Amino acid sequence: MPCRTTDTSINEAELSVDELFRVQCRIETLLGLHFPRERWQDLTRHLQSATSDAGMESCREFVRELLKAPPNPRILQRLSRELTIGETYFKRDPQFWKHFSLHVLQPLIRQRREQGKQSLRFWSAGCSSGEEAYTLAILLHQHIPDPEAWEIRIEATDLDGHFLNLAREGVYRPWSFRQTSQQWKQNYFEPAGGHHLWKIKTTFTRWVRFSQINLITFADTPYLYSNFSAGPAFDAILCRNVLMYFSPQQAAKTLRSMRQRLSPRGILVLSAVESLIAQRSGFTTENWPGSVVVRDQLPEPTELPSIPIQASEKTTSSITKPCEPSVSTHKVSEAPSALHQIETAKALYSRQSYQESLDIAMNIYRNPSGLIQQTECAILITRCYANLKQWDEAERWARSITRINRLEPMAYWLLAIIDLDREQLPEALKWLDDLLYLQPDFILGHYFGGLINARLQRSSAARRHLRNCRNYLDQLSPDTQLPEGDGLTADDLLHLINQTLKDLPT
Ligand SMILES: C[S@@+](CC[C@H](N)C(=O)[O-])C[C@H]1O[C@@H](n2cnc3c(N)ncnc32)[C@H](O)[C@@H]1O
Repeated sequence: MPCRTTDTSINEAELSVDELFRVQCRIETLLGLHFPRERWQDLTRHLQSATSDAGMESCREFVRELLKAPPNPRILQRLSRELTIGETYFKRDPQFWKHFSLHVLQPLIRQRREQGKQSLRFWSAGCSSGEEAYTLAILLHQHIPDPEAWEIRIEATDLDGHFLNLAREGVYRPWSFRQTSQQWKQNYFEPAGGHHLWKIKTTFTRWVRFSQINLITFADTPYLYSNFSAGPAFDAILCRNVLMYFSPQQAAKTLRSMRQRLSPRGILVLSAVESLIAQRSGFTTENWPGSVVVRDQLPEPTELPSIPIQASEKTTSSITKPCEPSVSTHKVSEAPSALHQIETAKALYSRQSYQESLDIAMNIYRNPSGLIQQTECAILITRCYANLKQWDEAERWARSITRINRLEPMAYWLLAIIDLDREQLPEALKWLDDLLYLQPDFILGHYFGGLINARLQRSSAARRHLRNCRNYLDQLSPDTQLPEGDGLTADDLLHLINQTLKDLPT
């Protein structure tokens, strides 16, 4: 049915402009995806479809769950399924693969062999159903005649658990082979029953590991992904056809976080159409056949160039510019509600505009509509100061939360994180104790308790925390996103815990 646009409701779902604006900000903050006003009809269609998928009666109910802090994980998952585009196929952009093989893989393999350091590490970020990661695995096998002698890892990640399940299964339809020869398919795949399905041979799956990672969450809290943020850096990161759906700010943030994970001569590969995104984010790019490359050696951009706001995105409000509805004459931009302002402050925070976020949150904090709102602002202010590395201010504000409500677990969590960042490990542990006393099922509290105790070489306390954590995780479905984990799933954390437990001295 066609959508109707009126001043107060944008569509049949009868969502108001204010609601749609908050949904837009929420989606951008959580998933990076960009839905400016000219795409709101599209967005509404997706919301309606996700609502019926979730078995809910009304779009408004769905939106209410989405806007909760933290959002209902089931709702978020439905929506991300609805909004993400998983289009991909083997050897996509064949010119790129040719160039990559000749100018990156072959010299790299030769060099590592000469150095006697036969290991390589890659990341396919936004891998969808796995075609890109498997194309790379096959290519590596073509150039490495002694694969057992090599330690190779291709990390393949995506936001969408359903795509990842397909990738792990490794069974593909003819459409995935649209760019490959019959011979190529027969060499690396075997028939998998009817409907012309083909399954990748296990030899080529060995190096590939799939996991669910939201790139926005990774950019915000890389330390939660120790496999990615610590350990050896990546020789190449492929993030093709992903950032084109992101808002410019979220794309820039994601690019910066991935680039930091490159080895000194590593490269970050985007698709050719994403060239402008990288340039607007302040990076110098190299145009390659069918792709664009950002390297590690180039200097970090000190300041982002201002991204020109297109006419349709101009706003009347100076403080809410990044997420303002694009039609400047609308009432919303004249008198933003406190809720609207909080969403804006959160959106700014997620774009790392901490000072601006802080200014807005301070304003609301001074005239709060109640204690709950004041607490919410104090939490956001604390997070901003922490990110600005103004630890004393951050601590002062975190302590102020305990004065508003001394039973607010988030205050103790933030105090712990602040002390952890300041390397004050025993103090951080003390705050975690308080946190877990108030909220025994605060899963990341147990996990960090485990990590800190491990660093303090208190193996048995570390083990106790990690086992507690594992017990709580066992009660969750593997793809549940953890509170304060920003997209980290129960399954991800289980892997991390098992690894940490294995590394603990006995
Ligand atoms: C068009 S596919 C690209 C697949 C492959 N890289 C290629 O070029 O063929 C885009 C993928 O990005 C994923 N994606 C979108 N937003 C994401 C996010 N915030 N974090 C991680 N992956 C995301 C989608 O789920 C989808 O699988």
